[in-house]
Amino acid sequence: MAEHPAYPVGLRLTGRRVVVLGGGQVAQRRLPALIAAGADIRLVSPEATPSVEAMADTGEITWERRPYTEGDLAGAWYVLIATSDAEAAEAASAEAERHRVWCVRSDDADRATAWTPATGHSEGVTVAVLTTDARHRDPRHTAAIRDAVVEGLRDGTLVAPHRRTRTPGIALVGGGPGDPDLITVRGRRLLAEADVVIADRLGPRDLLAELPPHVEVIDAAKIPYGRFMAQEAINNALIEHAKQGKAVVRLKGGDPFVFGRGMEEAQALAEAGIACTVVPGISSSVSVPGAAGIPVTHRGVAHEFTVVSGHVAPDDERSLVDWPSLAKLTGTLVILMGVDKIGKIAEALVAHGKSPDTPVALVQEGTTAAQRRVDATLATVGEVAVAQEVRPPAVIVVGEVVAVGPHGTV
Ligand SMILES: C[S@@+](CC[C@H](N)C(=O)[O-])C[C@H]1O[C@@H](n2cnc3c(N)ncnc32)[C@H](O)[C@@H]1O
Repeated sequence: MAEHPAYPVGLRLTGRRVVVLGGGQVAQRRLPALIAAGADIRLVSPEATPSVEAMADTGEITWERRPYTEGDLAGAWYVLIATSDAEAAEAASAEAERHRVWCVRSDDADRATAWTPATGHSEGVTVAVLTTDARHRDPRHTAAIRDAVVEGLRDGTLVAPHRRTRTPGIALVGGGPGDPDLITVRGRRLLAEADVVIADRLGPRDLLAELPPHVEVIDAAKIPYGRFMAQEAINNALIEHAKQGKAVVRLKGGDPFVFGRGMEEAQALAEAGIACTVVPGISSSVSVPGAAGIPVTHRGVAHEFTVVSGHVAPDDERSLVDWPSLAKLTGTLVILMGVDKIGKIAEALVAHGKSPDTPVALVQEGTTAAQRRVDATLATVGEVAVAQEVRPPAVIVVGEVVAVGPHGTV
């Protein structure tokens, strides 16, 4: 029979029996999509990988711990043969053919009646890529095409105009610590759809350069605020642009709700009756130490980490931080906005019982090309920060974790 291209189709498997033979790596890779499709999955296999076993333990699949026997495909709509038992694969394939059940074979795609496409998802659309010609099946090529399409849709470089329903209102997007690759996929997509972007000084500034010329980029620090407080002026700018029906992204550094005043903006928008989507971001409090080789927790060293703001000194009456209690904790202390006050903070921690030898690291402009790490101890950090001219933005890490990684010098 002449070889024709495969006919692509979407199977609606909710509640329908799917039989999977073999519980190894292939099944492990394929099962999550079948589970997501709501299939009634029956796994027949004497063995399974720990991940597949976990799916059976949680009731996502039913596992019959034995080899295939004739009749196992009864009631099946679809079969996945992923067993290394060649005899069982042949017999099951023959049973599927007899009962006209579509059958995928990991051992011999040429003799299968169905092929699994390379799939990916983006905003409610499934992208499935199949080789048309059976003689030139190349799974790497199909996977690469799938990746290119999905990635393009996610980051906005591939534009599908009829589908570009812009998210109404305002998106409060956490941009991550600075490296443009460290924004979320959703954040990047919303940026690509924006008419107006109101950005902070911190965060992935490089992404702004990629925006098309029609996008209005507003520097939040430069919004004129006359008799208003700066934050109120930013809130008003957001409201004003949203009321003009524009898609507005408020791009913030790190995560919007970690010392980011994100909730103040969300509240102001709610009061003005404007829809607001919040997109979490990677906070500098964890990612900047990590980028400098410092884990905020480490087995046997620190079982907790506490993130505090150091923007006011411990003896300042406006401070809401309980420094005496922090001095008693054994875990890691991560201080944001603390460069100017680190001398006084270190003094307070030592005065309340923390060892002066406790290692400290200051990580300036983490995750960017200008990243730099300066090491000290609580006894020396005040002087070292001045002598080494450490400047904001910097994350300061206090605790034994500083000495754990390969860069630990203390
Ligand atoms: C106003 S807070 C905003 C924090 C942000 N929302 C977050 O989750 O990362 C600003 C402080 O975050 C820290 N920070 C932010 N990005 C940084 C980076 N790339 N390198 C070092 N510190 C950073 C600094 O301590 C800076 O003073």
